[in-house]
Amino acid sequence: MITVIDGPAGSGKSSTARAVADKLKIEYLDSGALYRTATLLYLQAACDEAQFFQLLNKIKVTFSYYDQQFHVKVNDDAVTDQLRTPKVAQNVSHVAAMPRVRAFINDLMREAVANGVYIAEGRDLGTAVFPNADLKFFMKAALEERARRRYKERKPDNPELTLDEVKQNIEQRDHKDSNREADPLQKADDAIEIDTTHLSFEQQVEKICSHISDQI
Ligand code: C5P
Repeated sequence: MITVIDGPAGSGKSSTARAVADKLKIEYLDSGALYRTATLLYLQAACDEAQFFQLLNKIKVTFSYYDQQFHVKVNDDAVTDQLRTPKVAQNVSHVAAMPRVRAFINDLMREAVANGVYIAEGRDLGTAVFPNADLKFFMKAALEERARRRYKERKPDNPELTLDEVKQNIEQRDHKDSNREADPLQKADDAIEIDTTHLSFEQQVEKICSHISDQI
C-alpha cells in the first residue's frame, strides 16, 4: 500500500509524513532527499551531463528510515548529513529537471515501494511516479509561513542563513519545479488538498492518519 503527499517546499510534507509513519508504523520515503543526493553527486563530479548520467549507472543508492530520519547511502557511504546545505538547495531544481535523473530516481522508488507499506512525499508522486497510489494528498501553505518554517528548521545548522535567503530559495525552487517540462510539481486530480497555513502540526498528522486508517 502506498500513500503519497505532494506539495511545494516547506508545506509540511516531510515532518507530517514522518509523524504519520511513526504513528502507524509504516515506511517513509523522502523523494526530495534522493534528488538532493543526485545533486550532491553532480556537484562533486563537476562533469558534463552525459558523463554524469554514466556515473549514475555505476553507483548504488540505498535508503532507509529510522530514528526519525531518512538515511541515504551512496555505495555504502552515508551522505545524509550533506543533503541540506545551501549549495545543494540552490542546485537541486536544476538537477531534478533532467529527465534521466528523474528516471533513475523513479526506478529506485518504485522498486522499494513494491515491498512494504509506505508513505512517500515529493512533487510528482501522485501524478507521475505512483499514479495508482492508494491515497494522495497535496499539501500547501502561504509562502511566508513556509519560509518561516524552513528558516527555523535550518538556522541551527546554518548560522549565516537569513529568512530572506530561505524565502528566495523556496520561491525560485517552486517556480522551477512547477514550470519544468519533466514531471512538474502538480496536484493530482484525485488528491485531497490540505492547506496547512492555519493548521496545527497535530491536526495535519491526524487528518492523514484517519484517511489511511480507513483504508488499512
Ligand atoms: O522536498 P525537498 O525540498 O527536499 O526537495 C528538493 C528538490 O527536489 C525540490 O525542490 C525539487 O526540485 C526536487 N524534487 C522533485 N521531485 C520530487 C521531489 C523533489 O523534483 N518528487
